[in-house]
Amino acid sequence: MTSTQDGSVVIFGSGLIGRSWAMLFASGGFKVKLYDIEKQQITNALENIRKEIKTLEQSGLLKGSLSSDQQLALISGCTDLKMAVEGAMHIQECTPENLELKKKVFSQLDLIVDDKVVLSSSTSCLLPSKIFSGLKHVKQCIVAHPVNPPYYVPLVELVPHPETDPSTMEKTYALMKKIGQSPVRIMKEIDGFILNRIQYAIISEAWRLVDEGLVSPSDLDTVMSDGLGMRYAFIGPLETMHLNAEGMSNYCERYSEGMKHVLKTFGPIPDFSGATLENVHQVCILVWKATPPIQISLLSAIKNFRHLKPSPFLTSCFLSPTPALYRILGVIFALLTSPRRSLWLLIRSYLSHQDLKDHSRA
Ligand code: NAI
Repeated sequence: MTSTQDGSVVIFGSGLIGRSWAMLFASGGFKVKLYDIEKQQITNALENIRKEIKTLEQSGLLKGSLSSDQQLALISGCTDLKMAVEGAMHIQECTPENLELKKKVFSQLDLIVDDKVVLSSSTSCLLPSKIFSGLKHVKQCIVAHPVNPPYYVPLVELVPHPETDPSTMEKTYALMKKIGQSPVRIMKEIDGFILNRIQYAIISEAWRLVDEGLVSPSDLDTVMSDGLGMRYAFIGPLETMHLNAEGMSNYCERYSEGMKHVLKTFGPIPDFSGATLENVHQVCILVWKATPPIQISLLSAIKNFRHLKPSPFLTSCFLSPTPALYRILGVIFALLTSPRRSLWLLIRSYLSHQDLKDHSRA
């Protein structure tokens, strides 16, 4: 059973991502101090978090084993930065995606923090070497990139600065596990980290196929939503290779020549403009009737479905680390027996696109 934990966490910037982090840390039993340059943002964040946590509890979806009141009692606002960081073991920066601003924020923190606290940025795409280089406490700095909305999507990409101490990575990894997230260690910084590199590879090929008139925009998306996406919601590409043959070596023996042949036919980076852009845009409006930001409609879909509490069996079908084939069978069974609840869980796994929006905004 989760109980309250020692040490407090500071959320630096109480916007969309900061609020979600605050809820996650409180669900893990940590004291959370919300700091923001705008006092009103803290007031709004506390009110918004209170409503969210209460609604989640009513729907049976509140994370952790503490009650809503216990979790809410752990979260407070703070407008004095020195007071906020005093005794903190982890500071999660969530200010807007702007390199100069983030450098300024971490320089400010560098002057007042001790030698133990972890300084972590939520940045979607800024490289750690750009944000943290030159800081006195650079060994304690790391990027912990969540996927929106972090409360529902567990992945967190941990990206070190070249000078980040291995203990900073390990402490952050352990903390993320403690609050129920699914951290991955990235060994060395790289543009786009991992999630966005994979996402952009898919988007580029999708765009080229539409651009070359090989498939319509809506059929292209069906390939993902009714094909690859179903699989990748539960198992990764490497696990897929392993399971699609008699093991990984056998898969490579059988398919590597074919894969290389196809990969050689991939075209150059698209420029995402012109007639194809207009074509895809029209389809978005006419066929999908989705006006940006699409996330609003996805979030309202979640709201409509979240009163349905997924059964432990259903949840384990989608989320448990049981062997992949068992999970696939479980998912098929779940879709047949409880399609609405299954849909609710599927929607949750499709929200990562907001990240892309954020990345292109930066
Ligand atoms: P937001 O605009 O909703 O919130 C930013 C907050 O920072 C605001 O409350 C603002 O008042 C505050 N702020 C601005 N300057 C400040 C300063 N000097 N000191 C203290 N607080 C300050 O931004 P959002 O969407 O929450 O993004 C935060 C970070 O999370 C960004 O780096 C973004 O790239 C990253 N991120 C965003 C995702 C998304 O989907 N929105 C997904 C994953 C990461």
